[in-house]
Amino acid sequence: MSAQNLDQQAVEAVADGWLQAKRVLFITGAGISAESGLPTYRGIGGLYDEAETEDNMPIEEALSGPMLLNRPDITWKHLLQIEQSCRGAHYNRAHAIIAELERDLDVTVLTQNVDRFHTDAGSQNVIDIHGDVHDLHCTDCTYEITVPDYSDLQIPPHCPRCHALMRPSVVLFGEMLEEHKLSHLAMEFQAGFDMVISIGTSSLFPYIAEPMLAGQRAGITTVEINPDETNVSHAAKYKFSASAVETLEAIFSVYKERLAATT
Ligand code: OAD
Repeated sequence: MSAQNLDQQAVEAVADGWLQAKRVLFITGAGISAESGLPTYRGIGGLYDEAETEDNMPIEEALSGPMLLNRPDITWKHLLQIEQSCRGAHYNRAHAIIAELERDLDVTVLTQNVDRFHTDAGSQNVIDIHGDVHDLHCTDCTYEITVPDYSDLQIPPHCPRCHALMRPSVVLFGEMLEEHKLSHLAMEFQAGFDMVISIGTSSLFPYIAEPMLAGQRAGITTVEINPDETNVSHAAKYKFSASAVETLEAIFSVYKERLAATT
């Protein structure tokens, strides 16, 4: 879909919303990084498209906490695949626009992505609720390290201090979300938002869908940017069935024009 196919009235309404808003929540998923060349988890070309992995188990089992402990080779094989899919890739214009907005607005980014692109783009207030694939820690001692990629790791890697298994600081299936990230999110909610914008996520998890649903209930502006219909599409006041980059570019350019006209 080309930019001229975007609903211009909706583009202007969201741009005006940014001009008036004080606090905006962006919720992002794999779709925002798709234009950086990363695969999504679900949908066409998605990492989870096969019903079973080559190890004859669903991906949710291969990438689970218990599997990491019992068969670290299997879990690490899939972790390596995920890391390899973002190796050498960079944040795109959608991440950059969100970071630029932070200069004018109080922006919170709640992301399920483990690629660190929001932080690389310059966003300061990022809650990476599923962690970051570049951060590793020992399963036994306090050793931790941040790596640019996994190319220098012996898979599965072991702690250089105590030789126990190392793991990435990401949330595997069947594991709890990190307490300090949940309290950060709760604190941001307590402060309230004027707008919630969901981008490139199938919104399967309740903690990802709920802010859009709660936003709709509270009557604040809700926006979804996703070529497909999702669990939260019905809750979006403005729904853009287009890509993250072209939609954010269109809104940001109207926003900048109008901001310049008012200052
Ligand atoms: P999904 O792969 O489930 O969804 C990606 C969404 O992005 C889909 O709804 C696509 O329609 C949309 N999309 C694709 N290209 C797009 C584009 N260019 N612009 C905008 N949207 C686009 O990914 P998530 O919702 O992020 O969790 O998945 C959530 C979690 O599922 C992941 O964090 C991961 C996985 O299990 C864990 O690993 C714990």
